[in-house]
Amino acid sequence: MSTQLNSYIEANKDRFLNELLDLLRIPSVSADPKYKNDVLRTAQALQQKLIEAGANKVEVCPTAGHPIVYGEKIIDASLPTVLVYGHYDVQPADPLDLWTSPPFEPVIKNDQIYARGSCDDKGQVYMHLKAFEAMMKTNTLSCNVKFMIEGEEEVGSSNLGIFIKANKERLKADMVMVSDTSILDNKVPSITVGLRGLAYMEVEVTGPNRDLHSGVYGGAVANPVNVLCNLIASLQDKNGKITIPGFYKDVQIVNKKERAEMAKAPFSRKAYIKELNVADLKGEKGYSPLEQTSIRPTLDVNGIWGGYTGEGAKTVLPSKAFAKISMRLVPHQNSEKISKLFEKHFKKIAPKYVKVKVTALHGGEAVVTPTDSIAYKAASQAMQETFGKKPIPVRSGGSIPIVALFEKELGLKTVLMGFGLDTDDIHSPNEHYGLFNYYKGIETIPLFFKYYAEMSKG
Ligand code: BES
Ligand code: MN
Ligand code: MN
Repeated sequence: MSTQLNSYIEANKDRFLNELLDLLRIPSVSADPKYKNDVLRTAQALQQKLIEAGANKVEVCPTAGHPIVYGEKIIDASLPTVLVYGHYDVQPADPLDLWTSPPFEPVIKNDQIYARGSCDDKGQVYMHLKAFEAMMKTNTLSCNVKFMIEGEEEVGSSNLGIFIKANKERLKADMVMVSDTSILDNKVPSITVGLRGLAYMEVEVTGPNRDLHSGVYGGAVANPVNVLCNLIASLQDKNGKITIPGFYKDVQIVNKKERAEMAKAPFSRKAYIKELNVADLKGEKGYSPLEQTSIRPTLDVNGIWGGYTGEGAKTVLPSKAFAKISMRLVPHQNSEKISKLFEKHFKKIAPKYVKVKVTALHGGEAVVTPTDSIAYKAASQAMQETFGKKPIPVRSGGSIPIVALFEKELGLKTVLMGFGLDTDDIHSPNEHYGLFNYYKGIETIPLFFKYYAEMSKG
């Protein structure tokens, strides 16, 4: 890499970090309306930073929900254009009492940045901004670049879907680059080549018309919390298979060869169990943990409530019970179809002594990205240079709903070059991001641009 670029990064390292810490201080929680103004302030801060770095046409684009930050640098129409996508919104920080330092007061401990959003995705978005700044200031930018940083990824990106349909011309590019995933280990670089889809449901079970005394009525009247637990339990059989009729119908069967390839990724069952402090693992029979979390669909309760959940004991037979249930989907499954199958099945199995309401909250489709494209090869080459090892292609279990739409609406393939670790506790208390990872990203991204421009020339 140009030594000039390296020296620029080296000379500005501390500022790059401090600016990220400032960004992490704004609580851009997209799910909670209470933070609406903070989400907007985060968008405005990014706008300012993009302008300072040298981007043009920088705009905070309003949507029906949270805004999208757009900016671009077109240096030469004959050069390839990279659309950089990321998100500046974060997950809610609770449970707050489990954080060892406040989620929006970033601190550095053991070479890790602790804050909500440090890894997912403000830290990874900011690597792109600083890599862009470094390329601009050293005159080494080799591709056109467009930035699209949204504020609703953690709530399903539905307004971004509308935005990209309405802005096809503005978003014209040759590929999409996303840093919002993980590598296997700091010593084992990888590039994500698959994401799962998602169908997210909420169910409400209603029993009697009001909360009842559980002694006076208990025994004769169905308890909706008990009923909900039974219904949920029946959604999986003893082999971990989901029992919704038709659920597996479209599931892409991964062949033996590909499964053998996947099994080469380093994985220690023992270390995995130890790190999670569980006595054993539990998953769909016939598949390895890596397969269970990537090529197989799942069903999980994300939250369940009803009745009395306060301090101490209150005897009550609740009127209502609720649960939030998500299904991770794999290629060829369709989230809308799965939501409908779920709804139909759930209503069918509900006993007549309760009423059920089923709502689909959001969904998104699974993706598999190519490993034979110029874009992938450029990313691979860049990581090989900075990590000293060729990255392994790996399918991830997480979801980024908009990626499927990049292909469908814009005809663009995506490269998922993330720098986080699965152990960074994203969405959990004490989310953190390694300084190693932050700086590795800033160092690798310019190389990606360099190789992508070179390889595109043929
Ligand atoms: N960045 C994550 C997705 C991710 C994490 C992919 C780690 C691969 C490895 C993203 O912000 C996310 O959390 N997505 C949500 C989906 C969304 C609709 C709420 C998810 O996967 O739960
Ligand atoms: Mn993310
Ligand atoms: Mn996330």
